[in-house]
Amino acid sequence: MNILVTGGAGYIGSHTIVELIEAGHDIAIVDNLINSSGDVAVQLASMTGVEIPFYKCDVRDKSALDDICKRHKFDCCIHFAGLKAVGESVKQPELYYDNNVNGTLTLLEVLAQNNCKNIIFSSSATVYGQPDTVPITEEQPKKTCTNPYGTTKSIIEAKLEELHKVDVEMDSSNPWNIVILRYFNPIGAHPSGLIGENPKDVPNNLFPYITQVAAGKLEYLNIFGDDYNTPDGTGVRDYIHVVDLAKGHVKALEAIKKNCGLAVYNLGTGKGYSVLELVKTFERVTDVSVPYRIAERRAGDIDTCYADPGKAYRELGWKAEYDIEDMCLHGWKWQEKVKK
Ligand code: NAD
Ligand code: UFG
Repeated sequence: MNILVTGGAGYIGSHTIVELIEAGHDIAIVDNLINSSGDVAVQLASMTGVEIPFYKCDVRDKSALDDICKRHKFDCCIHFAGLKAVGESVKQPELYYDNNVNGTLTLLEVLAQNNCKNIIFSSSATVYGQPDTVPITEEQPKKTCTNPYGTTKSIIEAKLEELHKVDVEMDSSNPWNIVILRYFNPIGAHPSGLIGENPKDVPNNLFPYITQVAAGKLEYLNIFGDDYNTPDGTGVRDYIHVVDLAKGHVKALEAIKKNCGLAVYNLGTGKGYSVLELVKTFERVTDVSVPYRIAERRAGDIDTCYADPGKAYRELGWKAEYDIEDMCLHGWKWQEKVKK
């Protein structure tokens, strides 16, 4: 397929492009580089041996996006472009609504104008809010999000659901095919260590914080709370290797090819690890110590969140293959390269 990858210079987008090219797809990247670097496109070309058209373009720029779509005649779009820092979204909600929601609305309009009505959207487990039970299935009700970033994901999901509903009600002859992927906690890096996550500021998320402490860039890790209702008191999450997550997108294209209408999948491993378990595993497999202190709980955090990934396995034949040790080893391999 001929695929537009928005946000393709970012962490998950870049790993997904490697897998898409390996599976024989043609790619063009649109990214405004607000949270990434154009070097990634060069790195991807050297990793894959394929020159990938790269456009420094904002998805809110309707006319530029339209030109790109006219030039490439895409079959499908994988939409990663978005801002994702939870704390920043609390301080600047308008920025998040404009970038994430308006950006997606513009993208959907331009895609439809160019007769490309196939899209895979990067959503998040954040839409489940505080889950009533774990593991979380796709059928579990979505809850109010605790921050504007999460709310943008819920709003976009609702817009995509509405597009599908209108198609069904109008009995459209050219309906949208929409796959919503709800990511759990992607971590790690490509096993080659050639691409990975390189936050521009101090990391918000646990894993890049751990690797930067291990690399000596940060002094110690703050563990946000040890009095949660979990076996060791620290928060439990479903960490998933970014390459497994990337492969989930290649599988999702199969659903698009089969004219899925609207389909929603969790992408997680189904296993939860606590903060302390992740720290200890990282220390064991890398033989590098990660000093930490127990700090106050972080506002908005929940005890436990892990996926039931069964639907993606049943319908897409996808399941995560890498384990938590691989995630730590590959993430460290990348961090060591960044350090040099
Ligand atoms: P990232 O910041 O590394 O990548 C996002 C990319 O989008 C960046 O390269 C950025 O420059 C680009 N971008 C942002 N706004 C843009 C705009 N208006 N126009 C064009 N490009 C724009 O983030 P990531 O971790 O790769 O996440 C990708 C997607 O997955 C995001 O939508 C994010 O919300 C979602 N997601 C991420 C996680 C996670 O933990 N990393 C979890 C759940 C969902
Ligand atoms: N944590 C620490 N110290 C840190 C950072 C995090 O103890 O410096 C803890 C948190 O309290 C939590 C766990 O590590 O218990 C994971 O925190 P992350 O910030 O890495 O991840 P979250 O589960 O809070 O959220 C992430 C993304 C969201 C996304 C969600 C589900 O940031 O955007 O996963 O996909 F929605």
